[in-house]
Amino acid sequence: MAKSIIITGGAGFIGSHVVRLFVNKYPDYHIINVDKLTYAGNLVNLSDIEGKSNYTFVREDICNYEAIVALMEKYEVDGIIHLAAESHVDRSIRDPFTFARTNVMGTLSLLQAAKTVWDKSPSKYEGKRFYHISTDEVYGALELSNPAGDKDGRGPYGDSFFREETKYNPHSPYSASKASSDHFVRAFHDTYGLPTIVTNCSNNYGPYQFPEKLIPLFINNIRNRKPLPVYGKGENVRDWLYVVDHARAIDVIFHKGTIAETYNIGGFNEWKNIDIIKVVINTVDRLLGRPEGADMDLITHVTDRAGHDLRYAIDSSKLKRELGWEPSLQFEEGIEKTVRWYLDNQEWMDNITSGDYEKYYDEMYSNR
Ligand code: NAD
Ligand code: DAU
Repeated sequence: MAKSIIITGGAGFIGSHVVRLFVNKYPDYHIINVDKLTYAGNLVNLSDIEGKSNYTFVREDICNYEAIVALMEKYEVDGIIHLAAESHVDRSIRDPFTFARTNVMGTLSLLQAAKTVWDKSPSKYEGKRFYHISTDEVYGALELSNPAGDKDGRGPYGDSFFREETKYNPHSPYSASKASSDHFVRAFHDTYGLPTIVTNCSNNYGPYQFPEKLIPLFINNIRNRKPLPVYGKGENVRDWLYVVDHARAIDVIFHKGTIAETYNIGGFNEWKNIDIIKVVINTVDRLLGRPEGADMDLITHVTDRAGHDLRYAIDSSKLKRELGWEPSLQFEEGIEKTVRWYLDNQEWMDNITSGDYEKYYDEMYSNR
């Protein structure tokens, strides 16, 4: 069956990989990328597919309910994959209102638009799907029960994992806004029967990530021999997944996932910040022809992030067991590809880091 799918936030980091995958893999589908183009949205991320006949870009704010209803009617939309969000924790600490507006009210606006339009359709909710992309941060933080970590086991830094049943306990304004949006999505299923699915994913890395996030920021700073601002001691643990593997998971879940279910997505790939930073330094140095480790002295410990979650670790075994998904890339391969991509795409980086963002960055880090 031909499908008409709105993907929100398709000009951002993960969204651009999802749009690319769907446009290339499903020529019979019509993919409508709805993005407001905030500071984080960049159409250059999609320049390779912009001329495809099954792809349409619409610059719109997801909070504009009437415009979303009109778009859904115009394109007879039967699926929504919702990624648009304010996504950076540090920004949420400085400006929580913007996060509540986009992440909570924007998600509610999309839910209500889907309900309004699909309620009028003769087949109602049959064949329809509202898929909400969320984060592991809604679950809060895990203990570091094995601080030494041997990197051999599934949970080198502790036996506990975030599972689909884990109680929500968000700590940052960002994660609180995402938790709230998840609750609205589930409420629309439970109250109105809207065919929803929610997934909660761990930290993504890969090409096209906005360079305020750890990995692209540090690659660019190492290249330019600028200080690497490590929050606190660098002991926090994150579970890293290559972004294309997240997009693959979204494809599988959109097509085969069970309505009303939650799926956790992660790579069983935990790293302490300080260790991953050392891997990034060594990789950048090697690829630039510098002696490996030459830039270790750029590491600069700065004031910790307020409310900094200690450890995230996702148990994605349900997704593997029920839908057969697992990551395709080992971390060593993924990080090599990622560093190479940023070094090969300096123009992309320079366009983003000049102008307004440079001012924001300098102000942000002069306060630390
Ligand atoms: P991003 O910040 O790179 O991109 C967000 C996109 O949403 C941008 O293109 C932006 O222009 C657009 N947008 C923002 N506000 C909008 C609005 N009001 N209307 C329309 N478009 C708007 O984010 P990302 O890192 O690609 O994350 C995408 C989604 O995945 C988010 O929902 C995030 O919570 C979730 N997520 C991210 C990660 C991660 O590691 N990056 C992990 C798990 C889940
Ligand atoms: O876990 C999923 C989440 O991962 C997503 O929901 C978020 O959208 C995404 O931004 C990411 O959140 P984090 O806060 O984990 O990512 P970030 O890249 O900002 O930071 C990763 C870790 O590195 C975190 O422990 C903070 C630390 N850090 C970050 C920056 C930007 C530093 O030490 N220095 C820095 O300059």
